[in-house]
Amino acid sequence: MCGIVGATSERRVSDILLEGLKRLEYRGYDSAGLAIIDKNQKLQITRRIGKVQELANAIEASPLDGTTGIAHTRWATHGGVTEANAHPHLSDNEIAVVHNGIIENHETLREQLQALGYVFNSQTDTEVIAHLIHHERKTHGDLLTAVKATARQLEGAYGAVVMDTRNPERLVVARSGSPLVIGVGIGENFVASDQLALLPITRKFIYLEEGDVADINRTNISIFDQNDQPVERQVVESESSYDAGGKGQYRHYMLKEIYEQPIAVRNTLEGRIANDTVLDDAFGKGASELLKTIKHVKIIACGTSYHAGMVASYWLESLANVSCSVEIASEFRYRKSYVRPSSLLVTISQSGETADTLAALRLSKELGYNGSLTICNVATSSMVRESDLAFMTRAGTEIGVASTKAFTTQLTGLLMLTVALGKYQGMSKQQQSAIVSALQTLPTKLEESVSLADELEKLAHEFANKEHSIFLGRGNQYPIAMEGALKLKEISYIHAEAYASGELKHGPLALIDDDMPVIVVAPNNELLEKLKSNVEEVRARGSLMYVFADKNAQFKNDDTLNVLNVCHCDEIIAPIVYTVPLQLLSYYVALVKGTDVDQPRNLAKSVTVE
Ligand code: AGP
Repeated sequence: MCGIVGATSERRVSDILLEGLKRLEYRGYDSAGLAIIDKNQKLQITRRIGKVQELANAIEASPLDGTTGIAHTRWATHGGVTEANAHPHLSDNEIAVVHNGIIENHETLREQLQALGYVFNSQTDTEVIAHLIHHERKTHGDLLTAVKATARQLEGAYGAVVMDTRNPERLVVARSGSPLVIGVGIGENFVASDQLALLPITRKFIYLEEGDVADINRTNISIFDQNDQPVERQVVESESSYDAGGKGQYRHYMLKEIYEQPIAVRNTLEGRIANDTVLDDAFGKGASELLKTIKHVKIIACGTSYHAGMVASYWLESLANVSCSVEIASEFRYRKSYVRPSSLLVTISQSGETADTLAALRLSKELGYNGSLTICNVATSSMVRESDLAFMTRAGTEIGVASTKAFTTQLTGLLMLTVALGKYQGMSKQQQSAIVSALQTLPTKLEESVSLADELEKLAHEFANKEHSIFLGRGNQYPIAMEGALKLKEISYIHAEAYASGELKHGPLALIDDDMPVIVVAPNNELLEKLKSNVEEVRARGSLMYVFADKNAQFKNDDTLNVLNVCHCDEIIAPIVYTVPLQLLSYYVALVKGTDVDQPRNLAKSVTVE
């Protein structure tokens, strides 16, 4: 999704802004732009379709020299991918704006502004903001007051940064529904939609809250809350590693992040287990008070995080005696739902900023849940700040659009939640200890899983020319089959569908022929024999099968059956262990096909608009 970087400094800022944009590339975008105010107090702007490197090349050829500037990567929502639609947007060559989010009343505002004589050069909703600020500044005379007056008229979501040639060393920013962070420097200050953009230049951050407007110059930051009251927001020292933005020895971030899973899971477990059980405080200080009241869990999430929630529903109902329902956030937020007594609302999100999940969390506060918990990877995110409890997944920054280590650490956290809730619902000490022991083997088991990379690289060549594929799983491996299918389609663009194996004969079997590869996830559990029957049903119809199976499952390789032996593991953690070979398969298929693995077409890392 779109990225924002802004800076006001004594030094030339275009390089800082370009570096910031590069660090936000992982979010997904289709065009980029940068504007500065030059020493003659004139706006200079360059915009390009395509990669940030195109913009950097253009600026190298024709430098933008100024000490205050804003930059943006755009992921098209209103209007096609054109240079004219790329940000920054200008009004009267005096006001420049970059904006993330969607302004829902942009058409009405556009008509009003056109009636006032404003001419629009783009199809975007953002240009409305630029002209409206320009118009309000005529009335109020001051940029800050004009931005506040504009914000009051905007419906929808925005994180916006504004420059004005009449105030050449000033940035005014406004946040509502789209994250913004201020980077605090020495004699210079910055702003971005994600702190990652600013890590090379500062480690001190102020996270703006909903409705905040901030007035920033080189030496001063003034913040006003949604009631227009001056507020002090805490300056937080970031612990994020500067290198989070680097690929290291790996060809892609996705591969690096797949390999980081053993350590990410180890970090996620660390300090949260004692006396053969899970410490409630892993979910937030004083979490016991809420956890002990819970008899039902409602999980809300999107995409990969939704799949993690689906796996958790199997664990919670079978191990913790807690009933659980899982729902896609974009569905939940727009329907009337029934809340069972003693319910906990759980959101799962890598970014903690996904618009639908965040909206669902906010909605839940009016619905009578006992409380909310988020399973999240970004400590400073909106979801963490707005939930009663938070479990941090400690996966480290995930850059690849395709979620990998975030997913396996979410599953780790959800299995820990199963123990934490289960112990208040009669889960025996023995069972708590058995789950904890299984969890402690996870880092090693994931290392064994990752070591299948070479085999999967070979296998990938057989997939690259396929247009469709089917993934099968049973029980808690059904969501893992769904996750495998999602990974394959998002990075290799091969159409992939997942089915609970028992559903095959109710329709999908009609799709099976010798051009339809079928991937089966088959750990050695009580459903294995049933799964074997499903495999035979498919084989009898001529399909080529790939079975990811436990060594002891006794599948035999032959012309139509390729068996990939996955390490033996406790069946409780099998969904986590079997995820890794599916991620690797997708990665290597994408590599053979030559797609943009880390930034697949049309996708964004963090979906901060509806
Ligand atoms: C998965 O590979 C995707 N990146 C996507 O489905 C993602 O999981 C979804 O957009 C939810 O994001 P979140 O976890 O940050 O809320």
